[in-house]
Amino acid sequence: MSGDRAPGAPAATDLRGKVAVVTGGGKGVGAAISRELAARGAYVVVNHFHSSGAAEDTVAAIRRAGGLARAVRASVAKREQVEALFASVADEHGGLDVLVNNAARGVFARYDDLTDVEWRRALDTNLHGARWCALAAAPLMAARGGGAIVNVSSIGAGLAMDNYLLVGVCKAALEAMTRYLAADLGPQGIRVNTASAGLLDNPTAALFPGAAELRDTCRAASPLGRLGTEEDLARLVAFLASPQAEWISGQCLLADGGLSVGRAMLTPSPAAGPVPEPS
Ligand SMILES: NC(=O)c1ccc[n+]([C@@H]2O[C@H](COP(=O)([O-])OP(=O)(O)OC[C@H]3O[C@@H](n4cnc5c(N)ncnc54)[C@H](OP(=O)(O)O)[C@@H]3O)[C@@H](O)[C@H]2O)c1
Repeated sequence: MSGDRAPGAPAATDLRGKVAVVTGGGKGVGAAISRELAARGAYVVVNHFHSSGAAEDTVAAIRRAGGLARAVRASVAKREQVEALFASVADEHGGLDVLVNNAARGVFARYDDLTDVEWRRALDTNLHGARWCALAAAPLMAARGGGAIVNVSSIGAGLAMDNYLLVGVCKAALEAMTRYLAADLGPQGIRVNTASAGLLDNPTAALFPGAAELRDTCRAASPLGRLGTEEDLARLVAFLASPQAEWISGQCLLADGGLSVGRAMLTPSPAAGPVPEPS
């Protein structure tokens, strides 16, 4: 079902019988994650808030491909709505195996161009939303003997991308929370990891100021010579959610085509000429 699986290649069925919640699972990366988990056999609860039509389309595409899914509207930025979402999961499915905290919001701007309201909204969605979802999901997973939480992050959590301060700080906090939750929830059999990625070739990345130049820069700096796709990140999420990752917890795996090894940054440009000696 995922867009770029080789024709004829069988989908792994390592999530058959599992129930998964994907926050913001109706569009963009979230939709790719929903499709990938469903293709591997999971029943996917496609959470959405602003994009109900896209979520219904994602559910329909999953069902057409023979998978199982339903859409549930709730804002992860509102604790009572998060609790209602997981109450519905408990009622309908009797438990939960996988939670993917994919939902995100933010503004692409520099440090002196961000308002307190924008900071609060971003933190409520990207950090507290993931925290509230984990809090509500943990008992449903523990009752089944364990589960997997995958938090979705980005390369800007660890590297200072231009105009990415707001989301980058939220994602850095999310990555730190991954490690603490892995320690706290491990004794209940719950693994917690971060799936992160460099710049993707998708509509949201096109919203960056200077998007075309940013894409060219990332492509040129990546040893693999291309941007990521939504499916690249979705497969990483599915791996971390799957039994293949059963001994992995508290980790952040970054899919970026090798960009973060830093070769481009550390290679002198011939055009720059010799570096002056310090005086
Ligand atoms: N694009 C990239 O280059 C890139 C790179 C690395 C990592 N990522 C990560 O991938 C994830 C998805 O990004 P994207 O590129 O697909 O961007 P996107 O299209 O803007 O996706 C944001 C998602 O969050 C959901 N969302 C926003 N506010 C919500 C709320 N209050 N409650 C529930 N859901 C909410 C949206 O759903 P609704 O519209 O239904 O609210 C949407 O599905 C993010 O965590 C992002 O950091 C993206």
